[in-house]
Amino acid sequence: MCGIVGAVAERNVVAILLAGLQRLAYRGYDSAGLAVSGEALERRRVEGKVERLAELLAERPLRGQTGIAHTRWATHGVPSKNNAHPHWSEGDIALVHNGIIENHEALRQSLSEQGYVFNSDTDTEVIVHLIHRYYQQTQDLLSAVQESLKDLEGAYALAIICRQEPERLIAARRGSPLVLGLGIDEHFIASDASALLPVTQRFIYLEEGDVVAMQRQQADIYDADGKRVEREVHTSELQADAVERGEYRHYMLKEIFEQPSALAATLEGRLQGQCIDPDLLGEGSAELLKGIKAVQIVACGTSYYAGLVASYWLESLAHIPCHVEVASEFRYREPLASPDTLFITISQSGETADTLAALEYAKTLGFDNTLSICNVAESALVRASDWALMTHAGPEIGVASTKAFTTQLLVLLLLSTVVGRLQGRLSADKETDIVQALRKLPHDCERMLEQHQAVTELAQTFADKQNALFLGRGVHYPIAKEGALKLKEISYIHAEAYPAGELKHGPLALIDADMPVVAVAPNDHLQEKLKSNLQEVQARGGQLLIFTDHKASMPSSDYVTVIEVGAVNNISSPILYTLPLQLLAYEAALIKGTDVDQPRNLAKAVTVE
Ligand code: AGP
Repeated sequence: MCGIVGAVAERNVVAILLAGLQRLAYRGYDSAGLAVSGEALERRRVEGKVERLAELLAERPLRGQTGIAHTRWATHGVPSKNNAHPHWSEGDIALVHNGIIENHEALRQSLSEQGYVFNSDTDTEVIVHLIHRYYQQTQDLLSAVQESLKDLEGAYALAIICRQEPERLIAARRGSPLVLGLGIDEHFIASDASALLPVTQRFIYLEEGDVVAMQRQQADIYDADGKRVEREVHTSELQADAVERGEYRHYMLKEIFEQPSALAATLEGRLQGQCIDPDLLGEGSAELLKGIKAVQIVACGTSYYAGLVASYWLESLAHIPCHVEVASEFRYREPLASPDTLFITISQSGETADTLAALEYAKTLGFDNTLSICNVAESALVRASDWALMTHAGPEIGVASTKAFTTQLLVLLLLSTVVGRLQGRLSADKETDIVQALRKLPHDCERMLEQHQAVTELAQTFADKQNALFLGRGVHYPIAKEGALKLKEISYIHAEAYPAGELKHGPLALIDADMPVVAVAPNDHLQEKLKSNLQEVQARGGQLLIFTDHKASMPSSDYVTVIEVGAVNNISSPILYTLPLQLLAYEAALIKGTDVDQPRNLAKAVTVE
């Protein structure tokens, strides 16, 4: 959470910083600020979104060739101007921070005793005073920062400027991402490369413990031991407009409609005729997949639901036991590890703190084969895993995950099929059927998206509602959970999902005319069972919204609205049925008038525990 941008250039950097913040706003958006160094340090801060900072800068402009900026997702201290970054010390040092300093209380006490006055409730402010204190001794910003880092416990990405060294910017990372952007006689720093795409496409992804001293013509990187190091330069193929909204009203809508192309891109190069490349994870991986006896999946939120879907596939297609758990639970219990279990983490961002910690914990427990399924190739999660299976969804900006989820499902289906084939538990014919369904998938998604208008009308049901239930059975139960999460996340309607067979064990008591019930009802072996469950809802005056195939013969009536999504292949139906649920949440949020792309209290990448 929190977005950082910094720049050292010959030109005025304020516009670059502001544009960078706008591109990072998905990381946090409760307050924002910017500081530049010149003869004096100057800063502007606001409570609220980056747009308000832009308005303030229009009224009270700043100029500078060295600067730092920040968009915040509050952890310590409420969203307010006082708690907004940059924080500064004695008007000499200014700093922006992403992460959490765990020993901030002890540091605050010691620094207060030394006379430092705190002006915010943040954990961050201790860092800037600490650097100031060391600066009194070293008179050198780099060594003052390096000394200070030794006193910090917790996670940080930092960018720091100093009044006495106006042409220099120091940045450091541990546990939070930071990328160095290389320009021509100018250097940049950001939490995410996408912030810098308008100014450079050449990046260095800083490693854990790295500190970088940047000037216009030079950027020196030091590792955690203070040794000068060279890091690989990457050239991004992303175009600056890949993270722009284009003609769409919201990023979320754009990303929903990008799913056919995101799925096609994720499939590319992975099919070989009627088969899936057995070396799906890279060279030599078929050997590994042939030998695994069980799978443990760990993830958060939507990525966790992708894992739940995968457990059905891994057990039915590959006959491999699969256990799925949310990362924040896994990391604090004592799970049993076995060396022939494949440990899989799933994450769009590859930055999620709980998922990263769970991976590190798993390694200590003896999970010897780790695989990350991720959308960001340079992320910490990918780097920390033995193997990676990338989704090629492209940047996902809307806080509500959409195309990341369906592409995760796609690669999990590929993986389940490959494991089934390699272990001799899945026939060649079945693999051919799956491959054929996958080749049609992008087109089938386009067909699903044609339901947009029908779903828009259906969403009216939620105009005066505060609660909703989602039902599914089998592999579609996690899809119902994802539908409920989407709805609550962006429309603030309380929504829960149940396996339909569980209704009569409690939730049926909630059914009345104010509780819409959304059913995911594809034409599969559980449909008749599901129909009986839906009868139970209807008999109690509940309002049913059913997504189903044209063959299902479920007629609409006064209290039942049926959306027929057309014939859907059983194997790909969890992916396809996700799309109308995303549209439903989106349209309900529009009716409720919420902030679709930046819903309250949330941020895209949850980099704190
Ligand atoms: C999804 O809509 C959510 N915003 C959230 O649950 C998200 O999936 C979760 O935080 C995990 O993120 P990750 O995939 O980047 O690890």
